[in-house]
Amino acid sequence: MDLKALIRDVPDFPKPGIMYRDITTLLKNSEGLSYTLDQMAAKATELAPDVIVGIESRGFIFGMPLAYKLGKSFAPVRKSGKLPAPVHAISYDLEYGQDRLEVHQDAFTAGSRVLIVDDLLATGGTAAATAQLIQQMGAEIAGFSFVIELAGLQGRQKLPGQASVSSLVVY
Ligand code: PRP
Ligand code: MG
Repeated sequence: MDLKALIRDVPDFPKPGIMYRDITTLLKNSEGLSYTLDQMAAKATELAPDVIVGIESRGFIFGMPLAYKLGKSFAPVRKSGKLPAPVHAISYDLEYGQDRLEVHQDAFTAGSRVLIVDDLLATGGTAAATAQLIQQMGAEIAGFSFVIELAGLQGRQKLPGQASVSSLVVY
């Protein structure tokens, strides 16, 4: 299936010169949505994860149904101040300024194999910070699963070298 045809290109969003890859048109297409999750599940099964981590917010859209399809548990990595119980946190650099991601300390146990899911790999900053957070908790990175990869930004190079990285659509 041609997933690129289902992803809407929005020029100059959120600012001039940026081509925004909009997944809402993919989500709207039921066959496209099923195909996307089936493909992610096929790749994820090979990695034998114990838990799926989804990164707020678009990572939740794909991470949770993937966990359900695989019969695994799900842990949300959230933006600062959203999780109620004790957290581990990591700060990471954005183009302008910094952001912070958090996960509950009891989200998974040390030694768990964690699959990190997000909609998009761009610069890799978000996924790399999530991986660092998970490794600091003593868990193992089973791999990364993205719907879209912006290859020109070389985000893969920021991710742990030995980890499996899959993306369904590459720009
Ligand atoms: C977007 C996207 C990824 C991240 C990729 O999320 O959903 O999570 O950016 O960028 P990077 O590889 O350069 O780190 P965003 O922070 O815009 O928030 P959202 O998911 O809540 O829309
Ligand atoms: Mg995001």
